[in-house]
Parts: sequence; structure tokens; C-alpha cells
Amino acid sequence: MTQKRLRAAVIGCGFFAQNHLHAWQMIEGVDLVAVCDRDEARARAAAENFSVPGCYTDAAAMFAAETLDFVDIATTMPTHRPLVELAARHRVPIVVQKPFAPTWEDCVSMVGTCKSAGIPLMVHENFRFQAPLMAVRKVLEQGTIGTPHFGRLSFRTGYDVFANQPYLAKEEHLIILDLGIHVLDMARVYFGEVETVYCQTQKIRPGLVAEDMATMLLRHRSGAACIVDVSYSSKLDPDPFPETLLEIEGPRGSIRMRPGLRMVVTSDGKTTATDAGTPLLPWTSQPWHTAQESVLNTQQHWVDCLRAGVPPQTTGEDNLRTYALVTAAYRSNAERRAVAPDM
Ligand SMILES: NC(=O)c1ccc[n+]([C@@H]2O[C@H](COP(=O)([O-])OP(=O)(O)OC[C@H]3O[C@@H](n4cnc5c(N)ncnc54)[C@H](O)[C@@H]3O)[C@@H](O)[C@H]2O)c1
Repeated sequence: MTQKRLRAAVIGCGFFAQNHLHAWQMIEGVDLVAVCDRDEARARAAAENFSVPGCYTDAAAMFAAETLDFVDIATTMPTHRPLVELAARHRVPIVVQKPFAPTWEDCVSMVGTCKSAGIPLMVHENFRFQAPLMAVRKVLEQGTIGTPHFGRLSFRTGYDVFANQPYLAKEEHLIILDLGIHVLDMARVYFGEVETVYCQTQKIRPGLVAEDMATMLLRHRSGAACIVDVSYSSKLDPDPFPETLLEIEGPRGSIRMRPGLRMVVTSDGKTTATDAGTPLLPWTSQPWHTAQESVLNTQQHWVDCLRAGVPPQTTGEDNLRTYALVTAAYRSNAERRAVAPDM
């Protein structure tokens, strides 16, 4: 796969997949040869808007007809497992949106299926590829503040996420599985694996089935303590959506991500502030642009790894460790105690 052009297909052409489709068009050496959505109008619109020759409403028919180098599954989570199993039967490498699946058992099963089929599987965990969050990682990896011992990673908004994603209002598990999963993943990136999770959830907005606020306290194996707090029901002015704000402290200093993505780094008594935001791409728009650009970075990472024959950062196996934190958080909330993630 080193240099040949890659034939790709996208399954699921809904709200978020528009970013995937734009990003595939920008990635050198990738030809989007097919799109599939069980909603015919959505499949047709994607095929027309992105000049894709193959257009399907049935994924099985698509795999039977097309020769693919990889498939990008951008449906919502209940369909991830059957679609991953279908792709695996055709030995087609897979990138699949988060959340990986509705249950831990589904996630483990998909990892096993792809391992047995000998195909790469990456979860589209795009927060790892957001420019401001990558900038923080770089500062940490350079040792600028020393080994971090405290953090607070915070994503609080009142932005109406339900307008674009109405299915969220009916989820039995809402903000930890939908959004907290990203921030918990970043806690792993910054502080390493987690020993225990203590979590308290709240349901604030009327009409939801599940929680829309969660406050989690993680104890990492390194000894670091990290607070992860997420909210879809905060009345803030200005509202920082969709920015992840943070404070990280280490023996030599601190890193803070302020609203507007201003990164303030203090090291050995000296403070510098930089703009960690990114400019607009031709297809991105405020306030989503940093998240949208991360889709491009995520997909580029997948292609680079596929070509190099190396595992991507967010393999299915790696994502199990993040998913285990989600499961532990819900159990902690239910049992009112700190819980060790099952791994
Ligand atoms: N990473 C992020 O920042 C981010 C942001 C938003 C959404 N997402 C994720 O993206 C995924 C999709 O979310 P969305 O809001 O775009 O959902 P959506 O409902 O708008 O789109 C999903 C599409 O998949 C299609 N579909 C479902 N099952 C199918 C099947 N078996 N075969 C073919 N098509 C099928 C549906 O018809 C629909 O058009 C979710 O997992 C969501 O969590 C991620």
C-alpha cells in the first residue's frame, strides 16, 4: 500500500460525515469511490456533492460490488458492529466513528473480529488530532512543566447539540458516552492510564432520557489527579463551544488553555501565551472549525499509518482503554464509589 492510490468508501452520509467527505477530498492519494447511506436521498446528495461514482443504500451490496482499500464508517453507534463485521468479512481495513459501540461487549467483539481477519481498525477519536490539544501534548512531551501531577479538562457549553443530533436526546447514556469519551481519552494522553474513576452525573435539561452533566475525578497510575467535567447545559457568555479548556500543573510550571484557545504556559517562572487556534479551511466554519480540521488530521493519520503498515494511535484496542473509563464512570455514578476500569 505504500504509494498506490487508495480506494475508499464512506458508510453513513449524515450530519458529521460531511466533514469526513470534505476531508477525504483533501487527502492526497485517496479516491472516494463509493458512498452508502440507507437513506437514499442522503447517499445521492453525498455522491453528487463530492463527485463519487458509486452510490449505495445497502452496505452489503457496496462491498460485493466495489474493491476497497478501506472503509470509513460514520453511522451512529448501533450499526457499528454489524458494519465492522461486514467489512471484516471482505478483509477491508476500517476506520469507525466514536462512540465505538453501545456496549463494552460490542467493542471487545469488534476488536477480536478485526484481529482474526488481520485488518487494521481505527476509532475516529478526533480530539487527539485537534490542533490546540496537540499543542498541549507537545509542551508536555518537551518536559516544559515536568511530569504533570494535576489537571482539569473541561468541556462545558449550552450550544444546542440536539439541533444537529436529535438522536442524542433519546440516548440511555448521554454526555459521558458522547462527549466525555473524547475528554477522558485526552486525560489518558496527558496523564497516562487510570487507576480509579469517581463520577457524579446530573440531568439538567428537561426532555432528555440521560445525563447532560458529569463531573469525574481520575486517579492516574502515575499518581496524578485529573478532573474531567463535561456539560451540555451550561449558560455561559461567551459560550466557548466546542473548545476543551484545561489547566495542567507540574513541578516546573503549568499549561492553561483559555477561552479563544489562548494557551498560557508557565515554566520555571517565565510565562508565554500563544494562539493555539487554527485558520478556517475552505469548508470549515465557526464555531466548529477546530473540530472540523481535526477530522482532516485524523483521516490523514489513518492514511499515513495504513501506507506505513503501522498501527494508528487510536486502534480499536487502544480505544477499549478509553471506553473502559466511560463504563467505570457510569458504574461509579450508580454505585456512589470510586471504580477501577476493567481492562
Ligand atoms: N467526533 C466528533 O466530534 C463527532 C461529532 C458529531 C458526531 N460524531 C459521531 O458521528 C457518528 C454519526 O453521527 P451523525 O450525527 O452524523 O448521525 P446522523 O444520524 O446524522 O448520520 C448517520 C447516517 O448513517 C446512516 N446509516 C445508519 N445506519 C446505516 C447503515 N446500516 N447503512 C448505511 N447507512 C446507515 C443514517 O441513515 C444517517 O444518514 C456518531 O457516532 C456520532 O457520535 C462525532
